[in-house]
Amino acid sequence: MKFQKLFEPIEIGKVHVKNRIAMSPMLPLGIYRDGMITDRIIDYYIERAKGGVGLVIAGVFKVENEVEAAPIPYYPIVSLKGYGPLAELSDYIHSHGARIFIQLTAGTGRLIPPEVMNEFGFKPVSASVNQAFYRPDVATEALSTENVEKLAKSFRRAAELVVAADIDGIELHAHQG
Ligand SMILES: Cc1cc2nc3c(=O)[nH]c(=O)nc-3n(C[C@H](O)[C@H](O)[C@H](O)COP(=O)(O)O)c2cc1C
Repeated sequence: MKFQKLFEPIEIGKVHVKNRIAMSPMLPLGIYRDGMITDRIIDYYIERAKGGVGLVIAGVFKVENEVEAAPIPYYPIVSLKGYGPLAELSDYIHSHGARIFIQLTAGTGRLIPPEVMNEFGFKPVSASVNQAFYRPDVATEALSTENVEKLAKSFRRAAELVVAADIDGIELHAHQG
């Protein structure tokens, strides 16, 4: 059969994946509410697992929402409050024989969607002062060293929560922001 290799299992570290078909991280923008995973999100990912992908990579989960305080959290945020739904999501995906990785992010930085800036007057942050990608007339605010350290700690805490929720792996979102 052509592309036979696609259907062969693969080990990613200690994780056994039943085939080499992975859903790349694609944030379903606009259906998260208050940074929480909803039933609709769970359904969205389950459909991919049911469809036969070996690995679902769930896009951009923020490690916290204070340093880059997105006005209405369009993004899921890894938190103790969100632990239950995260564990539920991994359970469902596993029950369909698939694996799930979560993509952790600090935020969107200078690539913040323009509608978030336009509608809420949100000021983007970044590693340094730069032009916002979609609004070159807006300058990003440079992160303080204190906030960079805060983000590093949040990555650790988020990774621990994700592992505790039985998620199979973490992808780091090295965004262009
Ligand atoms: C609607 C949409 C949302 C996306 N969201 C993310 C994301 O959350 N994280 C990420 O790293 N990439 C994201 N991407 C990029 C995809 O994961 C993928 O890398 C990109 O589409 C290139 O793959 P392709 O050549 O197969 O289209 C997104 C792409 C699309 C089309």
